[in-house]
Amino acid sequence: MQNITKKAGLLISLTFLLFLFLFSYSLLRFRFILNKEDIIVAIILSISILVSEKFHVIIPIGSEVSELSVSTALTFTIAYLFNPLLTISLITISETLSDIVSKKQWYKIVFNTANIGFATGITSLYFWKFYNNFLPFTSAYNIGVIISGALIHFFLESFALYLLLSFIVNRPLLSFYIENIKFISVEIFTLYPLGIVLMYFFKYNPLMNAFLLPSLIAVYYALQRRYVVIQETKNALFAIAEVVDKKIPDTIDHSKRVAIITEAICNELKLPLSQTNEIVLAAMLHDIGKIAVPDFILKKQNPSEEEMEVIRLHSIEGEKIVGRLSLFRKGALLIRHHHERWDGTGYPDHLKGEEIPLGSRIIAIADSFDAMTTQRFYRDKVRSFKEGLKELKECAGIQFDPNLVDVAIKVISEKKEELIKLMYPLLNAQ
Ligand SMILES: [Fe+2]
Ligand SMILES: [Fe+2]
Repeated sequence: MQNITKKAGLLISLTFLLFLFLFSYSLLRFRFILNKEDIIVAIILSISILVSEKFHVIIPIGSEVSELSVSTALTFTIAYLFNPLLTISLITISETLSDIVSKKQWYKIVFNTANIGFATGITSLYFWKFYNNFLPFTSAYNIGVIISGALIHFFLESFALYLLLSFIVNRPLLSFYIENIKFISVEIFTLYPLGIVLMYFFKYNPLMNAFLLPSLIAVYYALQRRYVVIQETKNALFAIAEVVDKKIPDTIDHSKRVAIITEAICNELKLPLSQTNEIVLAAMLHDIGKIAVPDFILKKQNPSEEEMEVIRLHSIEGEKIVGRLSLFRKGALLIRHHHERWDGTGYPDHLKGEEIPLGSRIIAIADSFDAMTTQRFYRDKVRSFKEGLKELKECAGIQFDPNLVDVAIKVISEKKEELIKLMYPLLNAQ
């Protein structure tokens, strides 16, 4: 357990204790009785949980992706079909087995099983107490019980998990929940309705589930396809950015270093993860518009004013390239403004201060620092890391957002080793 913090260890132990407590209570309160049909349903659902862990559904949301496991729908179904004792026993067996098969570390297995076992056990207890078997499944009362059961299941299962994740990424729980709200809503609106359909079929006509399978497979492949398209588009854009960097030997890996510094600043500012991803993607692609600038101009030591005008167009060209892809549209604006200056003397729109999007202000600092500290053929003097940081400080409030400069200085100093490894040439490392 070397790589988990004390807080995380405590949370795992607490979750396990709650699970044990609920299991002991269920042992006293309920009986372990299964008829033949129950055994078949239990086996089908347990095998489905094992299989579903192998087939994570990747849901693309904007330019990001979230992984969903259908097992949430299956455990929810188990909570409804079986009494709490049987529910907890089934979950413990199937979750532990599936985690062992996917070779998870032991403490992850303990946490996962205890967390899902506890959430599903409580949900089962809730159904046991409030679901009315004398009313039809689709009666308003029972539907109300099922929907509230889904909310309880979701809340209990995600609470400990998100708490653990918020410890790991060092963000407050509430803001972490809010940051992930779009992923959470996808989970609520896809998995739980599926769970409710499964419940209905298993209760009244289990064979109907066979008809559900083809549509689930179709959805799986459609989502998988969309995910592949997003990844391939990203890779293609990164490849173009790399070609641009290689146009001049001095700027090899420039975009990667700018992205590293940008990401570190975003993390230090504790920006929401989705915003961070958007800004880092724009940082990776910030100079992509240079593909439209003729090489002889890019390579010129003393470009004329007209030639400088052509070079300056790269931020608008970059916006045009990236903006054509609906998934990356927000990042396109950040690319447009990466050469704006805090005092309003930048380009292309001469924006001033906070009129410049935050992401562009961050990229501007990362971009300029890298340009200062790497060899550029048009400049005789390369600044050392120390000199680069000093220059950032001097330009705060003139070229750069003064509120961001201190943060940038802190994180660049911390990332020095990583950046130096990517430097070309390495001579200027100090
Ligand atoms: Fe640029
Ligand atoms: Fe750049």
